[in-house]
Amino acid sequence: MESKSAFNDRLLSLGLARVSEAAAIAATRFVGAGDEKAADQAAVDAMRAQLNMLEINGTIVIGEGERDEAPMLYIGEKVGSGKGPGVDIALDPLEGTNLTAKDMPNALTVIAMGPKGSLLHAPDVYMEKLAYGPNYDPNLITLEMTPSERIEKLAKAKGCKPSDLMICVLERPRHQNLIQEIRETGARLRLITDGDVAGVIHCADTPKTGIDMYMGSGGAPEGVLAASALKCLGGQIQGRLTFRNDTERKRAMAAGIDNLNKIYTLNEMVTKDVIFAATGVTDGSILRGARWDGNILEMETILMRSKTGSVRRLLYRQRFS
Ligand code: FBP
Repeated sequence: MESKSAFNDRLLSLGLARVSEAAAIAATRFVGAGDEKAADQAAVDAMRAQLNMLEINGTIVIGEGERDEAPMLYIGEKVGSGKGPGVDIALDPLEGTNLTAKDMPNALTVIAMGPKGSLLHAPDVYMEKLAYGPNYDPNLITLEMTPSERIEKLAKAKGCKPSDLMICVLERPRHQNLIQEIRETGARLRLITDGDVAGVIHCADTPKTGIDMYMGSGGAPEGVLAASALKCLGGQIQGRLTFRNDTERKRAMAAGIDNLNKIYTLNEMVTKDVIFAATGVTDGSILRGARWDGNILEMETILMRSKTGSVRRLLYRQRFS
């Protein structure tokens, strides 16, 4: 029999789904309400309350920010009853605060959990990311290649033309050159305004989402969350931290990063088996968003374990008075 201090991913997974569900229930009231801060706060409060009901001795390693800038779910915060196994937690109570405020696609609540030491302690800086789906050689494409080389390699491996590929990129001024280079290859682009955790996860199910590859920089914490999802679903992600100034470099070093130029592979971002849950807040290609039918709320959660590669879709329905 497994000891009480072991990370029992099977038993913990349903509890994790409740945590992401609770955050989404709280955020759903703010969909389209134009107040991203209020939406985020509601999700944070609900996620924390639910997380503290779990029989775990949890530490947040990817959270809402540093202790002095985030009153709740900050990096280093202890969560859970304190009695169960020691676990590391990466979370984003509302990934896509603007998407929620404007009722745009792919706002999610996200949480990943693994044994201690399983998740890269990524500082809150940007990360250059590259992700593509399962069924390819894990070393086929690297961050060191130019965007056009990556597209050429993927098209060849898929047996198609570059113009048959759809590349997902966050629409930002910093991606102007990247977008231009991708266009010049003939590949098509799905430009998203926010939400690169979903952007990366899309690569794991190309037939459903239409996306073959993700490129560009976004939050490093989101990179580790996306890597946790791909560890369960299959597919590859690589990431390299990028820094805008010395304060960010110092933040990375304080988080224990000694090689600031390192390219992290999926298995370096997520070193052991993890569990992952995400609940749809707004409609998207991975998850259906929350729906109210009178006083009945319906929402969808995806719950996955990397050990077995199991993927569950849970439909939650509740009548509110
Ligand atoms: P929030 O939910 O915190 O608003 O983050 C959304 C997001 O789009 C992430 O998915 C992405 O990694 C990051 O912001 C990109 O940052 P920036 O908006 O600074 O380009």
